[in-house]
Amino acid sequence: MIYDFDRVIDRKNTFSSKWDNVGPRIGNPDALPMWVADMDFPAPQPVVDAVRKRAESGIYGYAFLPPEFRQATARWMKVRHGWDIGQAHVLYTTSILPILFSAVQAYTQPGDKVIVQRPVYYPFLQAVENQGREVSSNSLRLVNGRYEMDFDDLERRAADPKAKIMFLCSPHNPVGRVFTEQELRRVGEICLANHVLVISDEVHSDFVYPGHKHIPMASLSDAFAQNTITAVSTSKTFNTAGLRTAAMITHSDAIREVMEPVLANNRVMSISTFGLDAYVAAYNGGEEYVEQLLTYLAGNIAYLDSTLKADMPKIRLIQPEGTYLMWLDCRELGMDDAALDDFFTNKAAVGLDKGFWFGPEGSGFMRMNVACPRATLEEAMRRLREAYENYVR
Ligand SMILES: Cc1ncc(COP(=O)(O)O)c(C=O)c1O
Repeated sequence: MIYDFDRVIDRKNTFSSKWDNVGPRIGNPDALPMWVADMDFPAPQPVVDAVRKRAESGIYGYAFLPPEFRQATARWMKVRHGWDIGQAHVLYTTSILPILFSAVQAYTQPGDKVIVQRPVYYPFLQAVENQGREVSSNSLRLVNGRYEMDFDDLERRAADPKAKIMFLCSPHNPVGRVFTEQELRRVGEICLANHVLVISDEVHSDFVYPGHKHIPMASLSDAFAQNTITAVSTSKTFNTAGLRTAAMITHSDAIREVMEPVLANNRVMSISTFGLDAYVAAYNGGEEYVEQLLTYLAGNIAYLDSTLKADMPKIRLIQPEGTYLMWLDCRELGMDDAALDDFFTNKAAVGLDKGFWFGPEGSGFMRMNVACPRATLEEAMRRLREAYENYVR
């Protein structure tokens, strides 16, 4: 079927975090919400049908995990990413973050270090710091408009005996990199050589633009697979985040034996009936939707890029290779973080994630979610242009 991503749906007063929580979280209830990573598009029809069928049954009791969960996960990984997960363990979790938080509990002691690559999705930092561990940032470097990994620095950090885990964000939120095979192999080798466990958060892996390919870390070698926990979900790709369902994949029996009791004790393995239905339907039948969605998003990104270049040249888009989260380099505006926040949130009234949330490396940047109808993005650009013209005048 043909999906209509242009349709504007009023999400206000629906308990939507993005729309109804923009005041408390971003600082202006009238800001146009383009922050948290959820899309203003309905889920694919097979998902809607599955959820509707369950809703109409009228019975929403406890579920058990059927083989379809594993089968649908394996199918999607094979069809979309060419990854045959073979005999891997596939564990159900309520979402991606409990996998990261639980891995910190399972594999580190207070005072140990977790390697991350800032600027990075800020709950990665919370998973470490809120649990009394230390962030070791192998910060990405911006070289000629593109973020790169610093492998010498990674080697040094991984060699620290206190570094036990690396959180890899692949593709990377917020900088939009889709890492190459060469990059991933170096990360995998450095982590293996130093007994650092890789937690590869691949929740954005279905959002990859032409010229780039997502490579699951664990697909690169048996040794990497034995040293990796992969976190995937239908939540971003099909806009089902509120249904609370994700999967932890690992080929290692030892990892499964360590992680499963921790996840179970954290009570993040109890199944959402609606989530399970939606997940299986999405991974079994979501290709048509994803293909059309990627084309639509590429159009939004091209529009954003050309509008910024033409009308607001001091705001530069870091060219995304993947994800629908745009990383805007606003340093040329010459504002400190408080002024930049005020400019976007209050002067322009567009609600974006603030760059400094992603670590000090995000200072001078803002993150914009463009998974919305073109008309919404046009309205955001109109607001931003007006504020920009008032500012630069
Ligand atoms: C990289 C990354 N990981 C995890 C999450 C959160 O996923 P979940 O809601 O499944 O915990 C997000 C959401 O934006 C994300 O961008």
